[in-house]
Order: sequence, then structure tokens, then C-alpha cells
Amino acid sequence: MTTPQLTNLQSPVSDIASPFLRACYRLPTESTPVWFMRQAGRYMAEYRAIRQKYSLVEICYHPELAAEVTLQPVRALGVDAAILFADILLPAIPLGVGLEFAKGEGPILHNPVRTMEDVKNLRPVYPETDLGYVMDAIRILRGPLAGIPLIGFCGAPFTVASYLIEGGSSREFLKTKTMMYSAPEVWHALMEKLSSVLADYLVAQIRAGAQAVQVFDSWVGALSPQDYENFVLPYSQKVLKAAKAQGVPVIHFGTNTTTLLPLMKRAGGDVLGLDWRIPLDEGWSLLGDDVAVQGNLDPAILFAPLPEIKARVHDILRRAEGRPGHIFNLGHGILQHTPVDHVKAVVDIVHEFKADR
Ligand code: CP3
Repeated sequence: MTTPQLTNLQSPVSDIASPFLRACYRLPTESTPVWFMRQAGRYMAEYRAIRQKYSLVEICYHPELAAEVTLQPVRALGVDAAILFADILLPAIPLGVGLEFAKGEGPILHNPVRTMEDVKNLRPVYPETDLGYVMDAIRILRGPLAGIPLIGFCGAPFTVASYLIEGGSSREFLKTKTMMYSAPEVWHALMEKLSSVLADYLVAQIRAGAQAVQVFDSWVGALSPQDYENFVLPYSQKVLKAAKAQGVPVIHFGTNTTTLLPLMKRAGGDVLGLDWRIPLDEGWSLLGDDVAVQGNLDPAILFAPLPEIKARVHDILRRAEGRPGHIFNLGHGILQHTPVDHVKAVVDIVHEFKADR
């Protein structure tokens, strides 16, 4: 049974009112839409107050709390889109790899995946039930968001696989790459499994009401284009294609991806994320005019004085030249001690900018 999506029922694409959704489809907007990766989180006092009582996973397990945290930056900042409060590692819980967010250490996976047997032991995942709390948060949010689009998300197969294999965060991705090069059959079996789970998970989020989705391939820049093409592209493509078939815009994000952008475009996405390591106009011309782009302020610029922030934001907007299909964002997530008033200032600077200035 398929549930029809509101976005499909409303009207032709050209009648969409939301500037964020319009930009995803490269339709003109009055001003550039803006939202931030990690716009909910520890830099906000409201979030820290909830985190004093609940762990990250507990917030996710309580849909009303996840919904409240999702709304915090929407109220405080005036952004053009909300991103669901969840984490790319939540699917690791039903997979059975023993996820823990340890204080000060980031995620730890107690049963990492290293062998074919480990892959075979991964449990089947039914997102509608196993991750039903995520869908419940989405259903709660559609009302209070009152027209602000909600972005659902998942990790891309490579980035999620890297956590499963390494057992946590990594700098070199040595265990991950060693599996690719030394036991390709194990790697491909793991990526088959993960891409199916992640595709089903995104489809479930869209059916629950997410009006756009982002696939986070945060660490894929660790790979050469050749390895991306052989070991990653087909699996990302499967996830992006499944989401796209549901009729919502799809954002494909990575960092350190300058040499990977054309291949990431081939893998899919209506919108490609750009980080700050490449000027926005150069990244966009590598990709071509037939995709939208999202980015690309360095998150560290938010620690600079306001006049410097304004100059950097204007530089990015000038590089976009008012072309339809630019969504303003950072090149990666908001950092922990970022001043909230600087984040709010960026929203205002973006909204006030006129292309001819
Ligand atoms: O506002 C939002 O963007 C929505 C919420 C969100 C979280 N994680 C909540 C979270 C999103 C979109 C993510 C994605 C995510 N999670 C990514 C991809 C994006 C990126 O930053 O590259 C990755 C790699 C993860 C995995 C993850 N989650 C790590 C490595 C950590 C620990 C490091 C850290 O920042 O502390 C987390 C924890 C996490 N997920 C926090 C938040 C707000 C940290 C704060 C807390 O413990 O309360």
C-alpha cells in the first residue's frame, strides 16, 4: 500500500510556495532560503536544558521531545526549513551493533562489523516499527511547523558503514578501507544490506510526512574518485533513487568532495552539498547548471566578528549570482560553542541580500 504525499497532491511543482522547496527545484525565490546542518544542538541553551534531563538517544525515543528540539531553531532563528532531530546512527540500534553515545567521546559501536559472519548477523530492520519513534516525531511536527518544510535524513551507506566497521569515529578509515581492498565480498555484502535498510528508512520518513530528505555522506571525501565509483556510488545511488521515487527533493551532502562532485552528481540528488574548501561558483560549475547547490560557509566563520561574517556571507551570495537553485547553509554542521546571535545574524543577512548589491 502506498500513502500519497501532500507535496504530490497539492499542485504542480511551479506553484510551490516554500522558498526552500522552490530552490530545491531551481525555481526563482525572492531571497535565498537558508537553514543549517545541526541547527538543533548544544550551541542552543534550550537544547542544553533538555539534554540535562535526557540523553541524545532518549530525546529521539520520545517523539514529543524530538519534535520540540526540532522546533527550537525554527523559532529562534527564522530558518526556511526544519531538520528532524535524530541521528544518522539510529538504524545501527535495530541492526544490533550496540550503539552508545559515550560522554565526550562520540559514538561507540560495541559489536563492530569486520567479517562476513558479522554482516550475516546484522538483524533485519523494519523502519516503520523498529524506528517508528522517528516517524512519530515527523507526524507530530507537520502541524506546529505550519508550512515550514521538514527535512528527513539518513547517513549514506559509506558513512554509516565506516562507523559500523571502525566501531566509532575515525580519522584514517583504515579498517574501512582495509575491508574494501582485502575483503571486497564482505564490503559489498555490507553495503547491499545497509543501502536497503537506509532506502527503506528514508521512504518511511517521506511517507510519514518529510517534505525533503538529505543523505549525509559526511566522510566520503576520504576516498579517491576511483574507489568512490567502484565501492560506493551504486549503493548511494540506490538510496537516493528510492527517495526520489517518492516525489520529494533529495539533497546529497558530503565534505572534502571537490574531486568527487561529478560522481556524486551521477549517484543522484536534486541538490548537491558543497563545503567551504571550494568556492561556491567553482563547485557549481563542476556540477553543472542542472542541479541545485547547498552551502557553503565555513562553520568556523561563525566565531568571527559580525562584519567579517557579513562579508563572507555576501561573498557566497555574490558567487551564486542570484541563480535559482542556491540554498544557503554551512559547509558542515554548526559547531558546539557557536554564538547563537551570529547564527541568527546569518539568517538575516541572507534574507536581506539582494543580488544586485
Ligand atoms: O539539527 C540537526 O542537524 C539534526 C540532528 C542531527 C544530529 N546528528 C543530532 C546530534 C543530525 C542531522 C545528525 C547527523 C549526524 N550524526 C552526522 C552527519 C552530519 C555531520 O555532522 O557530518 C554524523 C556523522 C553523526 C554521528 C554523530 N552523532 C557523531 C559523530 C556524534 C558525536 C559528535 C558530537 O558532535 O558530539 C553525534 C552526536 C550528536 N548527534 C549530537 C547531536 C546534536 C551531539 C550532541 C549531544 O550529545 O547532545
